[in-house]
Amino acid sequence: MDAFTYRHGELLAEELALTDIAERFGTPTYVYSRSAIVEAFSEFQRAAAGRKVLVCYALKANSNLAVIDLLARQGAGFDIVSAGELQRVLAAGGDPGKTVFSGVGKSEAEMRMALQAGVRCFNVESESELHHLNRVAASLGKRAPVSLRVNPDVDAGTHPYISTGLRENKFGIAHEAALAAYRTAAALPNLQVVGIDCHIGSQITDTAPFLAALDKVLELVDTLHAEGIELHHLDLGGGLGIRYSDETPPSRAALLAAVFERLQRHPRGQQYELLFEFGRSIVGNAGVLLTRVEYLKENGGRHFAVIDAAMNDLMRPALYEAWHEVLPVRQPNAGASAGVDSGSTRAGGHGSQGSASPTAPTTSSASAAANTAQPIEAVYDIVGPVCESGDWLARGRTLALAEGDLLAIGSAGAYGMAMSSNYNTRPRAAEVIVDGAQAHLVRERESIESLFALERPLPR
Ligand code: LLP
Repeated sequence: MDAFTYRHGELLAEELALTDIAERFGTPTYVYSRSAIVEAFSEFQRAAAGRKVLVCYALKANSNLAVIDLLARQGAGFDIVSAGELQRVLAAGGDPGKTVFSGVGKSEAEMRMALQAGVRCFNVESESELHHLNRVAASLGKRAPVSLRVNPDVDAGTHPYISTGLRENKFGIAHEAALAAYRTAAALPNLQVVGIDCHIGSQITDTAPFLAALDKVLELVDTLHAEGIELHHLDLGGGLGIRYSDETPPSRAALLAAVFERLQRHPRGQQYELLFEFGRSIVGNAGVLLTRVEYLKENGGRHFAVIDAAMNDLMRPALYEAWHEVLPVRQPNAGASAGVDSGSTRAGGHGSQGSASPTAPTTSSASAAANTAQPIEAVYDIVGPVCESGDWLARGRTLALAEGDLLAIGSAGAYGMAMSSNYNTRPRAAEVIVDGAQAHLVRERESIESLFALERPLPR
């Protein structure tokens, strides 16, 4: 969250006040920092310098064309899971030759499109998919490059909904069935075995599960080598966690160093190109969801701040009970300290919102919704306007709030906008990328008409 800092009590994205962004583009709006995205990716690049490594950005985390373009310019590859994501890569100028196609249910049409585009590799998840792909490739007179996604049966120690490497998950090919599947792949004329792939889950905050999965992958690589099946690359998936509150995931450099160290001890560990499929760790902390407090209310002794963003904008709390930081865009004592406090403080970190002073006055700089009411300090549930009790974005947060105040929901750059919906016929939020003191609108707020433009009444 280093891209979002307070200066004189005002929360900035890079050099730009979030209040200015709210005035210009309205709320709710996703705000991303260009330099935070580039820096996160560059950290992987620096850690991999001098090695054969391709970091494929997992588009599903945030597939805005501007984000893809930014990463393509840094030399990123891409990890896609649908024809739609492939089209986004192509539309943004990404290189299909650096794009891997993951996913457990690729359709024939998607396979055809990916073969025609010339993707780097298909990460295949079942024997049946191998036959399917072989047929499609034959019909186009091509050979499809394949990796098998093996399921190493490693516990990623993460939320059950985002854990993918356990035996009982739907993903991948069981470790013990992998050899047979590789034999099948090697025998099919329109497939070319090029690698092995595994992805064990997301928001992993420890190096150990990655290394345990790598060990299982290397075991298979040895078995395949003994069979005469040689691989060109190892794809170790994504999954590196970020800090939402007090998690302490390994740094990008530390994770890569641990992987390199393990490969150093393998007889052929240096010969393989390494692929990764990181999503969250590239964009997660590079974005916030900017939202405004519409109403404050109290029900049965519980305080609610009803904001203009909802579960349709950011689904993670409703779906995973995920914790996101809630930052006041203007600190409650900002008026008092403006001009005195000349330093910047880093936003984020557990408990930073607890420092709100209950008595200090606040002013919202929002012109239209300006509210001069005294802020009320309370322990708030931050909820949206959607008609579901599960529609909350944060719970039990001590904040001093007035109606009209702006809030920033932290670490919302990954799986925020990408998982948003139009539930309750709510137009999806705008998206803005800040570059220094400049804001670029990279997705317009949806219009209401566009939400039902494809619908037709029945004939009379
Ligand atoms: N590769 C594969 C095959 C994946 O399934 C995923 C994520 C990734 C790469 C990227 O993982 P990352 O580096 O972003 O952790 N919606 C959930 C996360 C779902 C992740 C699904 N797969 C959330 O909001 O936490």
